[in-house]
Amino acid sequence: MPGAIYAEGLVKTFGDVRALDGVDLDVPEGTVLGMLGPNGAGKTTAVRVLTTLLQPDRGTALVAGIDVLKDPDAVRRSIGLSGQFAAVDEYLTGRENLRMVGRLYQMSGRDAKRRADDLLARFHLADAADRPAKTYSGGMRRRLDLAAALVVSPPVMFMDEPTTGLDPRNRQQLWDVIQELVAGGTTLLLTTQYLEEADRLAHDICVVDHGRVIARGTSDQLKARTGGERVEVVVHTPEQLAAADETLRRFGAGESTVEPLLRKLTVPVTGGARLLAEIIRELDAGGVEIDDIGLRRPTLDDVFISLTGHAAEAGGEGGGEGGAAATGRKRGRRRGGAPAGATEAAEPTGAARVAAATEKEGAQ
Ligand SMILES: Nc1ncnc2c1ncn2[C@@H]1O[C@H](COP(=O)(O)OP(=O)(O)O)[C@@H](O)[C@H]1O
Ligand SMILES: [Mg+2]
Repeated sequence: MPGAIYAEGLVKTFGDVRALDGVDLDVPEGTVLGMLGPNGAGKTTAVRVLTTLLQPDRGTALVAGIDVLKDPDAVRRSIGLSGQFAAVDEYLTGRENLRMVGRLYQMSGRDAKRRADDLLARFHLADAADRPAKTYSGGMRRRLDLAAALVVSPPVMFMDEPTTGLDPRNRQQLWDVIQELVAGGTTLLLTTQYLEEADRLAHDICVVDHGRVIARGTSDQLKARTGGERVEVVVHTPEQLAAADETLRRFGAGESTVEPLLRKLTVPVTGGARLLAEIIRELDAGGVEIDDIGLRRPTLDDVFISLTGHAAEAGGEGGGEGGAAATGRKRGRRRGGAPAGATEAAEPTGAARVAAATEKEGAQ
């Protein structure tokens, strides 16, 4: 029995670009799949195929048990969609937009009004509720778009980078709403560039890159594959990077990363806080002055580096309001740029690695 969202061998090409290159998915009913990947990985294309907005070149997909190619209308009636391509009517107010969605889904006028008021309050749009949507900022529009997708609770929901461009408060708010939705039995496919988000919300995660699923599992399984936590050290002078790298590599559970301009070294570890104390002692003994040191959980970049040997293109970007527009601008950029150089350097010694990374950064 296929899950509430099921896909087999999805292929979609745009000219030379294989946006989807044989994607299989199976999301059990009532669970959340987090689709994690950098810009251009194929996330939106997958969502568009699954929501009948785009026909795949090859492959099959079933949503709520219905074939997206054979009966797209029935699929559309069973799903909710929010994201980079969802529509909000510019000339209607926020309140009118939400009420209209409710009415489209056959809610009574009273229920539609109540639902609209509730969502406007939850997404901090109450003050702006009676202004036309075209006067909203990027972040406000994003929240309105999300609220519109939540007016009814369909059995299957798709959210395409729902929190890209949201500030932390609204991100938290949305996470709460999503959790409620899922507790109510909704099956959700959520795309994101943030491991933390997938971590919080998803039962299963699939990591996509270049139109392929390159890894899948629970958040814990993926993190275990990336070597768990990271120790990050900022040394006082660039000259100390090589010595610090030698030390870190002795303690690391995987490849270290050097960012010369930031005087920063990162290495995956498995020993946690106790190991951190030991590293500090060793660095100190080696005469390395530490400006900053800490332990942090793996990020999407770490997962990518560990899975693919290259950094995720989107690393550290995508914040701020208007994330969807930013995504559009970044399309078509080439991958495999500078950050990869630091991790791919095969030189055996710390000094050579640092030199290689420095050269790479300097060349930018
Ligand atoms: N309509 C389109 N025409 C041409 N290329 C497209 C189109 N949509 C997506 N692409 C390309 O397909 C790839 C995957 O894009 P997309 O699915 O939007 O990735 P993501 O959502 O993960 O950022 C990118 O290289 C993108 O440039
Ligand atoms: Mg996208």
